[in-house]
Amino acid sequence: MTPTPRPARLRYRHALWLAPLLLAACEGRQSALVPAGEDARILGDLFWVMLIGAVLLWIGMNGLFYWATRRSPAPHSQTLANWLVIIGGILFPTVTLGALLVYGLSIMPDLRATGDGPVIRVTGEQWWWRVEYERADGTTVTTANEIRLPAGVRSTFLLDSKKVIHSFWVPSLGGKMDMFPGRVTEMTLGPERPGIYRGQCAEFCGESHAWMAFEAEVMEPEDFDAWLEAEAADAMPPEGDLAQRGAALFLAQGCGACHAVRGTPAVGRVGPDLTHVGSRHSLAAGRLGTSAEDFARWVANPGAWKPGAEMPAYAHLSDAQLAAIAAYLEGLE
Ligand code: CUA
Repeated sequence: MTPTPRPARLRYRHALWLAPLLLAACEGRQSALVPAGEDARILGDLFWVMLIGAVLLWIGMNGLFYWATRRSPAPHSQTLANWLVIIGGILFPTVTLGALLVYGLSIMPDLRATGDGPVIRVTGEQWWWRVEYERADGTTVTTANEIRLPAGVRSTFLLDSKKVIHSFWVPSLGGKMDMFPGRVTEMTLGPERPGIYRGQCAEFCGESHAWMAFEAEVMEPEDFDAWLEAEAADAMPPEGDLAQRGAALFLAQGCGACHAVRGTPAVGRVGPDLTHVGSRHSLAAGRLGTSAEDFARWVANPGAWKPGAEMPAYAHLSDAQLAAIAAYLEGLE
């Protein structure tokens, strides 16, 4: 017996379920359509202008097609054909593209405005972000995988890369900018609405490209100043037996050769600076949370969470040793 084919109407109804799923991707803290800053707002407007224009053109072209094939299918006069070419083929595209060019050029000065806020150097590593704040007194505050910005001023980003091309992108705040080894690119962003947004590397850079994310927290200016002041301070000494044992193990295992914990003998520059890692929103460039369990999971086997990660696995450590190191790192607030 041959199966009865499903009525087409039913299949279309099922396809409608996809619509909310597709729209759901436009929500949230990593959406170019929910702007939280000046640049994202300008780019969002550009998107809507282009989309509405494209829909109107599509309707117009299909209307013309319908008219020519159904309403008036007989051959047209030479005069009408000439006017169609002059208006539809020359005048309309020239005026439309000219207007779009003027609009596109008019928004560029705002997107390229010079920064009046903090200067932040961000370097793309395999696969994490080195973040350095250049302070007015000439000192630098180093952190990683998290960028905090004051609302209401334009921050300047000096973008660099260690080995391959990455791309710096916080969709809620603005456009993306490539990061090249050996060449510093510059962009400014003017965040307006405080909140925590998600950034993502937007250029394929190797095995763990998809796991190369970061948090961008927009803060009230006074909160930002207080945070930067705290971030500039040395690490807090470990509290409690477990964390103290962890601190000793951290040094004994050689972690300080790659990681810096300011105020301790750990001064490595290869991996992320861990001085205040316990106060960050995520671990391993957005891959894990910041609970003690997450730290232990990461240290035991980074490659399991981030394929190709340069940090070796510390699988030889016992659960108790991992728990001690995790307690130490979690306490570095
Ligand atoms: Cu870095 Cu993709």
